[in-house]
Amino acid sequence: MNIAEVKHQALADVSNAANPAELEQARVSLLGRKGTLTELLRSLKDTPKEHRPRVGREINIAKTEIEEAISLRREALEKAARDAAAHASIDVTLPGRSRHRGSLHPVTQTFSTIEEIFVRAGYEVVYGPEIEDDYHNFEALNIPKHHPARAMHDTFYLGDGRLLRTHTSPVQVRTMETQSPPIRIICPGRVYRRDFDRTHTPMFHQVEGLVVDRGISFADLKGTVISFVHAFFEREVEVRFRPSYFPFTEPSAEVDVMSEQGWSEVMGCGVVHPKVLSMSGIDPKQFSGFAFGFGVDRLAMVKFGVSDLRILFDNDIRFLRQFG
Ligand code: PHE
Repeated sequence: MNIAEVKHQALADVSNAANPAELEQARVSLLGRKGTLTELLRSLKDTPKEHRPRVGREINIAKTEIEEAISLRREALEKAARDAAAHASIDVTLPGRSRHRGSLHPVTQTFSTIEEIFVRAGYEVVYGPEIEDDYHNFEALNIPKHHPARAMHDTFYLGDGRLLRTHTSPVQVRTMETQSPPIRIICPGRVYRRDFDRTHTPMFHQVEGLVVDRGISFADLKGTVISFVHAFFEREVEVRFRPSYFPFTEPSAEVDVMSEQGWSEVMGCGVVHPKVLSMSGIDPKQFSGFAFGFGVDRLAMVKFGVSDLRILFDNDIRFLRQFG
């Protein structure tokens, strides 16, 4: 076989190799110890001396070409093998994996809205303990033992004299004990009562507000509450003050707001009782104040049009997704 024929056959064998094993076979039969090309090189010694340099060069050129063809073919076969493996393990017809975006719970969103409104108005956010003592939850708020107002609170007692706070009002007391006026605070947090129906859950959320300074009156309270309600609902909803009674405020009122569901009671409020100020070390002759406390869950219900309070605590993902 002459060089041209050998090369022609070799290139055909290389490109016909269907997999790496066949390619290796072709390589050995061309370039191996007994390979066609090796034989050809060996036969050089029988070539007349004067032709040897030329023939030798031609064989070497053919050899380089064949080696290149083999390495190109090897790369192509390896890539095909990788692609085939990938296709076998990836089913491109499967639906994509979607990621759900989380969102804040509607009650958490409501807390943020409330805090933003009051912080913008210069209030400080203050927290107090959820496990309280009788003094801060009742006594210091002018609710002595055997006072009928205690019955309204359906308290969870811990058995050691402590209790789960029934409202955020004890944080008023703790603040007045440690700060002197002017005081301008809100106290968000969880509160607990033994109640469970469409509009009551044993744990719910309140925000307390307290302002103590010189010359604070019921008019300041009214203006603050109305401004807050309008800011919270982002429109001028109708607000109604009804005379009410709390042992720690005098006069006292309850506040209703109008929505598609009619009037909803959303907070209690009043002018801080002088006895409450003096019990916590503030002179009622110099200072006066107002306080309010509202149910955050109630406000969220009215704002989002939810008719059963309990759904806020069920953590049903279908409900929560609507607030994303
Ligand atoms: N603490 C009262 C309640 O939980 C609400 C309230 C707060 C009323 C402050 C007046 C002043 O019902």
